[in-house]
Amino acid sequence: MKALQIGDLHIKIPVIQGGMGVAISLSGLASAVANEGGVGVISATAIGMTEPDYKKNLREANKTALRREIRKAKSLTDGVLGVNLMVATSDYEEMLRISIEEGIDIVFAGAGLPLRKPVALHENNKTKFVPKVSSAKAARLIFQYWANKYNSIPDAVVVEGPLAGGHLGFKKDDLENQKFHLSNLISETVSEMKPFEQRFGIEIPVIAAGGIYNGEDMYKIMQFGAKAVKIGTRFVTTYECDASIEYKESYLKCKKEDITIIDSPVGLPGRVIMNDFVKKIQNGYTKPVKCPWKCLKTCNFKEVQYCIAEALFNSARGNMSEGFSFAGSNAYLATKIQTVKETIDDLIFEYNTKKYKSGTLKGKHASECHSV
Ligand SMILES: Cc1cc2nc3c(=O)[nH]c(=O)nc-3n(C[C@H](O)[C@H](O)[C@H](O)COP(=O)(O)O)c2cc1C
Repeated sequence: MKALQIGDLHIKIPVIQGGMGVAISLSGLASAVANEGGVGVISATAIGMTEPDYKKNLREANKTALRREIRKAKSLTDGVLGVNLMVATSDYEEMLRISIEEGIDIVFAGAGLPLRKPVALHENNKTKFVPKVSSAKAARLIFQYWANKYNSIPDAVVVEGPLAGGHLGFKKDDLENQKFHLSNLISETVSEMKPFEQRFGIEIPVIAAGGIYNGEDMYKIMQFGAKAVKIGTRFVTTYECDASIEYKESYLKCKKEDITIIDSPVGLPGRVIMNDFVKKIQNGYTKPVKCPWKCLKTCNFKEVQYCIAEALFNSARGNMSEGFSFAGSNAYLATKIQTVKETIDDLIFEYNTKKYKSGTLKGKHASECHSV
């Protein structure tokens, strides 16, 4: 398994833990993944809800909580740490500036096209910036815009396919369309990145996300040109994951048919595990929102059916009757809670076993290849 290089940043294990909100991936999970040689990612999505007085001023609470979690993670690991930001949130640029001030290694930016290069990035030459997109076209648009306007480009790109957990960048009807199979999206994005690699004389790693659950999936997608994988769902059922035991148990208990798509109040499809709360919202239940502020630029909180940040935070804290779990299409494969180390060891073992079976490790027994 080849290490991942993003500019001057060396990542021993090409596994990036997906940032998971609200309060699912904080310093606990992120530092544990970073300690195993992958990239641990803190989700900044509504992170301020973890502050006791967040209702008074969520914008301030977000900043305080993000600083707190980055500092805590850094005290627990010397490994590589990232923050996941949503471009569509109203404090995106502020949270990016805080991440840079706190010395985060990588900022991942999803949920919106980061066409404009944030001011804080102009003044920074250390933190890497990696957009998350759902198509090669979106990747090209961002890289083209940056290249023309700033004569610089992002450091890598994550491409997330339709099998991921959480909000999805696809129309509901396109989720099962083979055209959008992750392997196609990766091949297309790898080709789109070539002219930029030539123009700027650097390698742009394309990172695959969505539905990658084991080392075999990882090996397969890397044959299409992905240099690393970003995995969320598999890391939920770890001891170090910052979610409540009830949230993790919803993964252990669910069956394939329980994993379903909802129309999220933010206007995107979202993949969740069916429960009574999901049934209620599907039957038209509404919970009027008293919003202390608009966390999403586009949220019309007076008209939304319920506040999804609140529902996700409730479940993260174990109140499943007032919320639900986001989960990838493979969440039903979880059978037990493991440590992050066991999870990453399994990924490496499964990857090497597949590689051996594919004949690329001729003459070696898979068990000899357990370590990278
Ligand atoms: C529980 C959960 C919460 C998530 N929350 C966010 C989020 O707040 N922001 C975001 O950009 N992506 C979010 N994601 C997506 C992950 O960062 C990652 O891209 C995705 O999990 C990869 O697909 P997989 O779950 O099939 O591994 C979430 C995913 C899960 C499973």
